[in-house]
Amino acid sequence: MKKPIKRHEALKPLSREHHHGLLLCWKIREGVKRNVEMQRIKEYIDWFETKYLDPHFEAEEQYIFPVLGNENALVQRALAEHRRLRRLFNQEEEVFKAIHAIEEELDLHIRFEERILFNKIQEVATPKEYAEIEERHQSIKFSDDDWKDHFWNSN
Ligand SMILES: [Fe+2]
Ligand SMILES: [Fe+2]
Repeated sequence: MKKPIKRHEALKPLSREHHHGLLLCWKIREGVKRNVEMQRIKEYIDWFETKYLDPHFEAEEQYIFPVLGNENALVQRALAEHRRLRRLFNQEEEVFKAIHAIEEELDLHIRFEERILFNKIQEVATPKEYAEIEERHQSIKFSDDDWKDHFWNSN
């Protein structure tokens, strides 16, 4: 088995955010399994987008992707996936379909970044670039304790 590449300190905050993105996908799956009303899931997704997804995408686009450059094929793929995901998060019609697509595609997007894109970044990033990333992006502290509707735990 291939040994996993150790994540550089500067990228760890983004990896922690990925963990919460994967949890969002899990919560959606649980909600669907439990036949939770779509509107309840949609409200949580909207809240998650504003608080966590938007700032995360922005940080990647501003500080991480430029390490490889926007012409890079992996970066192009990531940017296209960001566009598609933003569209899905903001889709107000056929919400059921959009939520399903988010669950699948956000999961795939995060796995692509963790397994391929971030490893490639680590191959080329210079100490100066790492220092800049560390200076500009601290981890977005995640908590949904204040979100009262934990539909993924409901019966
Ligand atoms: Fe991303
Ligand atoms: Fe990401």
